[in-house]
Amino acid sequence: MMSRTVIRGGLVVTAAEETLADVLIEDGKVAALASSGSAYAQGWTADRTIDATGKYVIPGGVDGHTHMEMPFGGTFASDTFETGTRAAAWGGTTTIVDFAIQTVGHALREGLDAWHLKARGNCAIDYGFHMILSDVNESALKEMDLLVGEGVTSFKLFMAYPGVFYSDDGQILRAMQRASANAGLIMMHAENGIAIDVLVEQALAEGRTDPRYHGEVRKALLESEATHRAIQLARVAGAPLYVVHVSAQEALAELTQARDLGLPVFGETCPQYLFLSTDNLAEPDFEGAKYVCSTPLRPVEHQAALWRGLRTNDLQVVSTDHCPFCFTGQKELGRGDFSKIPNGMPGVEHRMDLLHQAVVDGHISRRRWIEIACATPARMFGLYPRKGTIAPGTDADIVVYDPAAQQTLSAETHHMDVDYSAYEGKRITGQVETVLSRGVPVIDRRKYTGRAGHGQFLVRDTCQYLG
Ligand code: URP
Ligand code: ZN
Ligand code: ZN
Ligand code: ZN
Repeated sequence: MMSRTVIRGGLVVTAAEETLADVLIEDGKVAALASSGSAYAQGWTADRTIDATGKYVIPGGVDGHTHMEMPFGGTFASDTFETGTRAAAWGGTTTIVDFAIQTVGHALREGLDAWHLKARGNCAIDYGFHMILSDVNESALKEMDLLVGEGVTSFKLFMAYPGVFYSDDGQILRAMQRASANAGLIMMHAENGIAIDVLVEQALAEGRTDPRYHGEVRKALLESEATHRAIQLARVAGAPLYVVHVSAQEALAELTQARDLGLPVFGETCPQYLFLSTDNLAEPDFEGAKYVCSTPLRPVEHQAALWRGLRTNDLQVVSTDHCPFCFTGQKELGRGDFSKIPNGMPGVEHRMDLLHQAVVDGHISRRRWIEIACATPARMFGLYPRKGTIAPGTDADIVVYDPAAQQTLSAETHHMDVDYSAYEGKRITGQVETVLSRGVPVIDRRKYTGRAGHGQFLVRDTCQYLG
């Protein structure tokens, strides 16, 4: 039996246009759009009608950067695939791309299999994987080709974290050459980790152990230096490059320069860099640990440059880098030594809302909101137009968004499995009302109606910004 839903009366917003339209959904796919009010005239019948009058009807968010259950710093990110994807759904995100991890001495396949086991049957929304390369060797390079064929079409490399995820320039160049040949996309954590480790050692030796020194040793210049080096290595290899979690205006300037040369270089930033700063890292009583992530939060002046980059398309994507650790028992591992604070912040639930607030505040337009949070990440990671837009034939991953609702972000009310909110008390105009994943309501008028196991693994295409 075919199931049919009609969403009527809303303002349908995609990256390309805004129209008052009714949307017909059949069997999990968008079947048709018609001018608002014409659903009945079209003869559409439905099992369910959603009244979206006065609301936005937007594509479900695509968060291209999450770390559910990630092992890091002797502990694990506190959200499982179950809790993390449920929280994502609450916030209007219907697709995540998480990072499977190759550990040193092991095959990519082992890491990928392990991540499939963690996610399968547990996700409330659809999910894909990138692969973290921690040990670039001949067999790992060969495995990259196989993974591209299985829809794991992007590979993260680290210029930071020596001894853990770090790759040297030779390994980076080889991986880029391979990606150039197999159409994979190299994602780079661009920070000079060798230099940072020297500064960490010196800071600790001098008794500078508080969380704020995490921000001081991970210098903006060491982000921009690594960004510059990654770009040059990608040019040598003839490979495209996607720089993750850009936080420093100096690093953004490197991306701008590369893009002005016409190079296939892309950049992502995250809400924490747009809304938080080193002032948070300096909060007393070890509270700053809540804001320890890498790249680190920057002085507040950097925010204007990042907003500008998002407007000028020097930055193309906002993802969350969701990697939550509880304050109690996890962040606390670094009391007396900031280098032992697990790196990462919660955020998968709040990206769509924070970016809507940015629309309200005048930083970006409504369509740019959808472009950086839905359409471009879908294209970047080979999911478009199935994900990231609303058009006939696309998956009916759709959010009914109330642009006038008022909410206050808080650990008391969020759904992420973490004991603090990085945005505690922040007031937001706008709220998710209903969320469909492939036509199935997962949030229904602010009640969770989803289930673990609804979410399916996405076999992704290669990056759609390349020929
Ligand atoms: O601090 C962060 N960003 N933790 C997650 C791992 C990474 O580098 O993305
Ligand atoms: Zn092994
Ligand atoms: Zn990273
Ligand atoms: Zn990350």
